[in-house]
Amino acid sequence: MAEVQILGLFHEATPTADTIGILRQLGVPDEKITVMSGIPYRPEMLGRPRPRRRVALISLIGAGLGLLTGLFLTFGIFLLYPLEQGGQPITPIPPTLIILFETIMLGTMWAAFFGLLGENRFPVFKSQLYDPRITEGHIGVLAEVEAALADQVESILKDNGAHHLRRETSSPRRTDVRLTAFWATVAGAVVLLGAVTLLIAYDVLKIRFPTNMAEQDSTAYLQGPRRSAPAEAIPIQGPVLIDGQPASEPVPASAESVQRGKELFSITCAVCHGPAGDGNSPLSGFFTPRPVDLTSTPIQDLTDSEIYLVITQGRGGMPNMAENLGPAERWDVINYVRTLAK
Ligand code: HEC
Repeated sequence: MAEVQILGLFHEATPTADTIGILRQLGVPDEKITVMSGIPYRPEMLGRPRPRRRVALISLIGAGLGLLTGLFLTFGIFLLYPLEQGGQPITPIPPTLIILFETIMLGTMWAAFFGLLGENRFPVFKSQLYDPRITEGHIGVLAEVEAALADQVESILKDNGAHHLRRETSSPRRTDVRLTAFWATVAGAVVLLGAVTLLIAYDVLKIRFPTNMAEQDSTAYLQGPRRSAPAEAIPIQGPVLIDGQPASEPVPASAESVQRGKELFSITCAVCHGPAGDGNSPLSGFFTPRPVDLTSTPIQDLTDSEIYLVITQGRGGMPNMAENLGPAERWDVINYVRTLAK
């Protein structure tokens, strides 16, 4: 059934209010009467019912949904993927509170935004009658009525002081379809976006996103096939043990090596083990157990690789010296320690 839009322009608020009263008596429902005005008249001044607003309730529901989302992101994920540290699950309260605050605010704001749009039946696709004089202070009353009532409504407007009238026929069903289609498209887009996100997140859709990690020079060489060391390469990190043969000595105990070792020993070891290596230094008293006597039999009985490990990794009160001595220097020191034997 075709509807007719009739727009009447008024100068004053009082005749406008009267007209609305009469239209209502005629049986035109309030939602079919639109008052347009550049001046913000309150509904009561025009004899109209105060519209019931549900934005506050919708926002509250949004806040609740935000809270649930936040609880899922914090506690829900801890339950789904427990990360235990020292036998305890990680449920840090302060960051959780911040996340909850954020999601509650986000839920509230989205709900208020879309609630307001929905309640005002936005976006408006229907071409509504309008007259530019409304911006100049005139009050426009737009009534949407069935064609049968059109003439009657028009004369009511005219009799009550409408100084200008316009009429247009519209088909309401088509406009509703467009509004539904709009919101269906929005909902569809949201669902599609969410679905694609989940598909990517759970590796159903495998997309190789570029990561800087793999492009770094420092890690790039780890990616490719491992190449074995050239045949003539000499291991410098420790003795090589080949079946049935004695451990190879990376730095032979030459006079030069012992000389270098003596020098390095006085810099890095003597503070604790004493200049003579016998464990007597001004610092010895501060250690329990004391720095060992390197000249003693039990220590000289240690293999080269055992001493190498003590220097590299430390042991008990003995700190690791890996940062003070390079691998070759450690062997120089070991060669020197051997000369201390009683
Ligand atoms: C900060 C003081 C300190 C310095 C510097 C230090 N040591 Fe020690 N070292 C110790 C102490 C203390 C121990 C006894 C550790 C224990 O048994 O808990 C020890 C133990 C050792 C042992 C015996 C480990 C074992 O298996 O019992 C060796 C060998 C040794 N040091 C060699 C060296 C050499 C070589 C250097 C120089 C590169 C060096 N230390 C520098 C404090 C030091």
